Amino acid sequence: MSPALTIRVYSEGALAQAAGKLRAGELVAFPTETVYGLGADATNKDAVAGIFAAKQRPSFNPLISHFPDRDAAARHAVFDDRADKLAAAFWPGALSLVLPKRDDSTICDLTTAGLPSIAVRVPAHDIARALLRAADRPIAAPSANRSGRISPTTAGHVAASLGNAVSMILDGGPCGVGLESTVVDLTTDRVVLLRPGGITAEQISAVLGCDVVMAETDDDAPKSPGMMSSHYAPGLPVRLNATTPDRTIGDEVLLAFGPDCATGGFAQVLWLSKSGNDREAAANLFAVLHQADQCRVKGIAICPIPDNGLGIAINDRMKRAAAPRG
Ligand code: TXA
Ligand code: MG
Repeated sequence: MSPALTIRVYSEGALAQAAGKLRAGELVAFPTETVYGLGADATNKDAVAGIFAAKQRPSFNPLISHFPDRDAAARHAVFDDRADKLAAAFWPGALSLVLPKRDDSTICDLTTAGLPSIAVRVPAHDIARALLRAADRPIAAPSANRSGRISPTTAGHVAASLGNAVSMILDGGPCGVGLESTVVDLTTDRVVLLRPGGITAEQISAVLGCDVVMAETDDDAPKSPGMMSSHYAPGLPVRLNATTPDRTIGDEVLLAFGPDCATGGFAQVLWLSKSGNDREAAANLFAVLHQADQCRVKGIAICPIPDNGLGIAINDRMKRAAAPRG
């Protein structure tokens, strides 16, 4: 039951309404200088699960968190000298920085796909920054289109692609850049370009006075860590489609889903969703995986999860968690 979509041309009233919706956990599409973003409160796991549901993404890629300024971003990410230099040179602007996530960050695991790092960006669009200020919380925002479709640069594109899957579109006219931000990974002592964009490797290299490694040409530089099983595979072995305990393994923790899930005989049971709600399961996924990994058992068993809706992305994640370790 999606509520009717509200499209409002930017005004102070429209901005206040959009900020209220974001604070209430609803999805709001808003303009940035690159493309329209599909925004949700990055600290609210149910709201972030809504992004994946609306986009019909087949996997959980980590999302970029948006802030009105550098200091707001620094409450969730650890800035080193390089990060500060790049922020000073290019923010606000079309550059996203992947940095270590702070231990005290309230951004949920689903936003960062369970990674210890976080992508942060300060957009150079007056409406976006005013909205981020008014919402007064980090906003996760991928491009506001269904997965696999072209990125939206007008409110009309967003409405055509997402329709009622989004609660509100804040119409700020066409985006200037039309291409997503450059993504740079600063979590190691190298500077790795994860996604090319408007700000070039040469510009970054000139500010930092060092080489920029291209993720595509370097096997050691993960292009999209969200796609790498080893990056956050649990330490315990993972068994998929488990319907009964496997005594040859020893004690197992079951990740359970749905009212028909058989939990008997498992040493421990952690629920993804008792009612079988894919959105609730997505919201809980990474936290439950971390929790399972800390159980004093020999393995993690995962009950069958229907391969539709967000179940597709959940199963994709589970398959990666179960994949042989490199
Ligand atoms: O221009 C843009 O950046 C747009 C507008 C709306 O701001 N946003 C956008 O966000 O494109 P998003 O969430 O779709 O970007 C996700 C990309 C991932 O594919 C990945 O490359 C990178 O950002 N990313 C996010 N978090 C990461 C992390 N912790 N580690 C590595 N890469 C990460
Ligand atoms: Mg996109």
